Amino acid sequence: MNTKLISFVLNGEPVSVRVDPFELFVDVLREKLQLTGTKKGCGEGGCGSCTVLINGEAVNSCLLPAMRVEGTSIQTIEGVEDNGELHPLQTSFIEKGAVQCGFCTPGMIMSAKALLDKNKSPSKEEILEAVSGNICRCTGYVKIEEAIEDAAKTLRKAAVKGESHG
Ligand code: FES
Ligand code: FES
Repeated sequence: MNTKLISFVLNGEPVSVRVDPFELFVDVLREKLQLTGTKKGCGEGGCGSCTVLINGEAVNSCLLPAMRVEGTSIQTIEGVEDNGELHPLQTSFIEKGAVQCGFCTPGMIMSAKALLDKNKSPSKEEILEAVSGNICRCTGYVKIEEAIEDAAKTLRKAAVKGESHG
């Protein structure tokens, strides 16, 4: 099989890794790069647990051929905290009880982050739409929606103070 060395930016750091032609990015993350925060649930695009950001857009990494990642900038749940400080989304999910088993949480947070990076005042409908591809079997979506709304509020306050949360 013709493997290929691909290079991209991962959580702000340049990375090169050799991949097989049919290898999926979720497997590269979890098995070759040992970044197991990104979960693999259904493996077929139906649950959102494998969501990562590619150039700021939320994608299911279980459907993403690893070779397509060449030259892009990827963010995973491991890259969401800032210098050891949790992102407001992470804090709000904990404080609002939006985490139970936690399996959906990394993907849920990445979908929410894709939204809040572009829109810091989303409506309830926009929040629910942003996480509509993320399945949670434990919490229901009320606490998740509240947590995202709460994080948006924190981010708006931080923006007024001139703080950044990448
Ligand atoms: Fe990718 Fe379910 S594991 S969508
Ligand atoms: Fe368990 Fe969402 S917290 S699936």
